[in-house]
Amino acid sequence: MNREKIIVIDFGGQYNQLVARRVRECNVYCEIYSYKTNIEKIKEMNPKGIILTGGPNSCYEEGAPTCGKELFELGVPVLGLCYGAQLMMHVLGGKVCTAPVREYGKIEVEVDQTSKLFSDVSEKTICWMSHNDYIEKQAPGFDIAAHTPACPVAAVQCVEKNLYAIQFHPEVLHTVEGTKMLSNFVFNVCGCAGDWKMDAFVENTIKALREKVGDGKVLCALSGGVDSSVAAVMLSKAVGDQLTCVFVDHGLLRKNEGDEVEEVFGPNGSYDLNFIRVNAQERFYSKLAGVSEPEQKRKIIGEEFIRVFEEEAKKIGKVDFLVQGTIYPDVVESGLGGESAVIKSHHNVGGLPEYVDFKEIIEPLRDLFKDEVRKAGLELGIPEKLVFRQPFPGPGLGIRIIGEVTAEKVKMVQEADAIYREEIANAGIARSIGQYFAALTNMRSVGVMGDERTYDYAIALRAVNTIDFMTAEAAEIPWEVLGKVSSRIVNEVKHVNRVLYDCTGKPPATIEFE
Ligand code: XMP
Repeated sequence: MNREKIIVIDFGGQYNQLVARRVRECNVYCEIYSYKTNIEKIKEMNPKGIILTGGPNSCYEEGAPTCGKELFELGVPVLGLCYGAQLMMHVLGGKVCTAPVREYGKIEVEVDQTSKLFSDVSEKTICWMSHNDYIEKQAPGFDIAAHTPACPVAAVQCVEKNLYAIQFHPEVLHTVEGTKMLSNFVFNVCGCAGDWKMDAFVENTIKALREKVGDGKVLCALSGGVDSSVAAVMLSKAVGDQLTCVFVDHGLLRKNEGDEVEEVFGPNGSYDLNFIRVNAQERFYSKLAGVSEPEQKRKIIGEEFIRVFEEEAKKIGKVDFLVQGTIYPDVVESGLGGESAVIKSHHNVGGLPEYVDFKEIIEPLRDLFKDEVRKAGLELGIPEKLVFRQPFPGPGLGIRIIGEVTAEKVKMVQEADAIYREEIANAGIARSIGQYFAALTNMRSVGVMGDERTYDYAIALRAVNTIDFMTAEAAEIPWEVLGKVSSRIVNEVKHVNRVLYDCTGKPPATIEFE
């Protein structure tokens, strides 16, 4: 296909997907390839520009990821970022070595505003630096286009050859004018038109899925969340009723959610697919009876989910493909899982495959961030209610009920949560809060209702703002809204006589209660 494309060459940096995302935000299609990709293949792709990413190595060390000189001789504009910048200088005859002063964090950089890369960028601008090595001497033919006191070569350019290299990271938001710099590269240097949109991604992905699946059978575990819904709809558009979606209702969903999912995907819904809803509430409740330890609850819910899914999959028989709604942050989180401590075991990442007889996994959303998945969802015509659904954990309300889970407690938290959500929507503040929900504390306390003493449960309201869900701060919900929610909950939800608001950030708390 002959659409304009920027290629990102991956040298193992942490922000590579962000680079691609920023380019896509300029409405230019972008794909990431390993640094091992053959130069002939790169030529064939006919990119409008190439971006070399950061990476953890020192480019002058033996065995460090590298690239050939030819990459810079294709006549295609190249932008090197951090490691990519150093590598470009190293390969083209400059000198890279350990910096006398390591720079890390937000640093003021002075840029040459006449450079195409820095056009409309302030002369002194805050950029995100993270490097041990630096460019001591640029390669022949390159001019310095930015510097800091500790980094005399913070950006270089060879204007005739359209080669640019910058030491800092324009892709992260800490670089205040980074997006401008990347769009300068994409438009001023590469001459892109910027006519790629999410509809093209959706259309091309559907086409590619159709080719890949052929007349094979596809199975999808549908949770009703944004990711699995978007993945399912894409597959349904690609292969229609060759797709079967299994929706396990574990009885730990929010109020009416099971029916809402069925309305959209079931026989009276808008899509051509086989929809199986398994009402497994009782199974989950009986497995959870008497269990109050959070990790044990998570494991039970996760295992039971797999068991139910497996039973359904067996009825369907052998399938060729299993669809997963994995999105990019899941890939990163599970990748880090090996080294970091397990705070909570997430049951929906990587749990299913070994239990199902299939040939291959399809993950159509693997390269997208959440908001891009939402855009794709809107593009596919999925109802807004579903597309902008609150993040909801796999174990559902099971981890929003502290201690033992019972059907009665599920009902209480469902009712309280529905009131909370309704009032937040009425106040028109839903889209301004990252995540919000009600949880049932296991605490009972004394209250008074009418003239009677009560000894009932306390509901906790949580609302947080977060960028990446790794850290979060408590959101400030207007007092009138909280007051209204609180009074409705104690009046409308039986056995609740107290409502608390959680002001804790993450860390030290987590977003969910268990
Ligand atoms: P925590 O509680 O770890 O939550 O601060 C961070 C984000 O992850 C969601 N969460 C989960 N999502 N399966 C999921 O898919 C899980 O087991 C799970 N546990 C927590 C949580 O809702 C928040 O958005």
